[in-house]
Amino acid sequence: MRRAKITIVGAGNVGATCAHWCAAAELGDIVLVDIPATGDMPKGKALDLMQAGPIAGFDCQITGATDYGPTENSDVVVITAGVARKPGMSRDDLLTTNARIVTEVAEKIRDTSPNAIVIVVSNPLDAMVHRTWQVTGFPHQRVVGQAGVLDTARYRTFIAMELGVSVEDVSAMLMGGHGDTMVPMPSCTSVGGIPVTRLLSREKLDALVERTRHGGAEIVNLLKTGSAYYAPAAATAQMVEAIVRDKKRLIPCAAYCDREYGVGGYYVGVPVVLGRNGVERIIELELDAQEKADFEKSVAAVKQLIDTMNRLMANA
Ligand code: NAI
Ligand code: 2OP
Repeated sequence: MRRAKITIVGAGNVGATCAHWCAAAELGDIVLVDIPATGDMPKGKALDLMQAGPIAGFDCQITGATDYGPTENSDVVVITAGVARKPGMSRDDLLTTNARIVTEVAEKIRDTSPNAIVIVVSNPLDAMVHRTWQVTGFPHQRVVGQAGVLDTARYRTFIAMELGVSVEDVSAMLMGGHGDTMVPMPSCTSVGGIPVTRLLSREKLDALVERTRHGGAEIVNLLKTGSAYYAPAAATAQMVEAIVRDKKRLIPCAAYCDREYGVGGYYVGVPVVLGRNGVERIIELELDAQEKADFEKSVAAVKQLIDTMNRLMANA
């Protein structure tokens, strides 16, 4: 049986670390792509990672490239190309630069891997996944954004730290855009099957939700030279795995919502079933009044971002 072919565009921090997680789990053969200006860097990282195989016990082909020839007919393509945040910058500050980069990458993917499922990671996430869908012209089920798996992982980690329990026992859901308006959902959060609201006070939970909303900035301020990459890469690899192993994971992803939640044709974070066909289903939850208000506020922020991007790209 042919192994899955996974292309990762952008061989920087998130891209290379995602390749590492994918290789370690033997999810398929991997092609790491970056721009010609990076010279042999993608080849170097690919060879170095492949040489970890005999030690770490994985066996897959890992290729580095600065053109799309080796990526032809990939099953899954991950886009991490772009610039990352520096202290004081919001994800939205990256809009113009990354929209141009993602446009170029999406055109290449459309031409070389027309049947791929595309996972977008570049920021600002909700706009970049929308742009990728527009440019590739792929069915929206085959273009999906990574944000919710990471944001939920941060939320789960903070809850586990607060309660002094294993993070493995914390299960949670989160909705909305990948920005400060994201909506962690205490009503869908449990610890060892116990609703989190029975274990933590409202004030404590609110503080953890707030920390989650600023979880990306917290890491940027600590690193000072870039943004988070271990957890973002692990989150992306979990999505790759859901697709190549057809796991039907029920996880939060940025998916195209039209009638769903009354969004009206935008990408936004919602619970989805992710499998070999990409986004196979969007789960529509009944939201309480506060969740609904928070979600609508987040969707409004996403729409504003995408509308700004559409104007910028129309004049580019
Ligand atoms: P990085 O700077 O380490 O790597 C980015 C790579 O993209 C560089 O190697 C660069 O040469 C490459 N690149 C630039 N233009 C390209 C093009 N046209 N084609 C191919 N490659 C190109 O940045 P890092 O930390 O890996 O972050 C990448 C992106 O992911 C950023 O936009 C960042 O904000 C975003 N991000 C998103 C997260 C999410 O949860 N959605 C989480 C973490 C990062
Ligand atoms: C994060 O949340 C920068 O979006 C990236 O860490």
